[in-house]
Amino acid sequence: MTDQRATNITWHQHHVTREDREKLLGQKGVTVWLTGLSGSGKSTIAVAAEEVLVSRGRLACVLDGDNVRHGLNKNLGFSPEDRTENIRRIGEVAKLFAECGVIVFTSFISPYRADRDLVRGIHPEGRFVEAYVSASVDTCESRDVKGLYKKARAGEIPEFTGISAPYEAPSRPELVLDTNRQSVEESVGQLVAFLEEKGYLSS
Ligand code: ADX
Repeated sequence: MTDQRATNITWHQHHVTREDREKLLGQKGVTVWLTGLSGSGKSTIAVAAEEVLVSRGRLACVLDGDNVRHGLNKNLGFSPEDRTENIRRIGEVAKLFAECGVIVFTSFISPYRADRDLVRGIHPEGRFVEAYVSASVDTCESRDVKGLYKKARAGEIPEFTGISAPYEAPSRPELVLDTNRQSVEESVGQLVAFLEEKGYLSS
């Protein structure tokens, strides 16, 4: 847990509640945390799911690792400490969005169980859905969309997840999207059906 540094700060209670905003939007705010290896399909699934929901009149957005590392987290690398800080910040941002009633898809490798558990812990019960985008290193390496596995095998990228840095798979995820076997459409269908069944798509 990151220490509180600032002193003399007081929490200001707002007048509009999360429930007010959810009623306005006709949905429930939730963080859908996609975790998995690079190339497992997290961002592809997130972006497609966002499109499906928005086309159905629901407010959804994607926070994506590669993109967020161009801005908010541009000062972070891939050491264990930097990955932990990356996930902590994104967890806080996702929580703020979800509090506004948005359905947030996050797409980060987030290789450490403890970091993901920390993000779960800052969300209210039921407002954090861990979705394990499951694909083996072999599958991801055979896709190698960004050419990064080739570089990592050649020793050109240090601490590359799955090759020279660890990935800790979730032990009790709410959802497993098995992209070794499923098409993108099937995974997106499974994800949207889950959100519908659990009541997130209505207020
Ligand atoms: S995380 O581990 O801190 O969650 P994040 O999801 O933000 O990672 O970023 C991963 C993306 O950064 C990968 O999809 C890949 O495009 C790129 N990348 C660059 N270097 C590495 C590395 N050493 N390990 C994993 N991904 C890397």
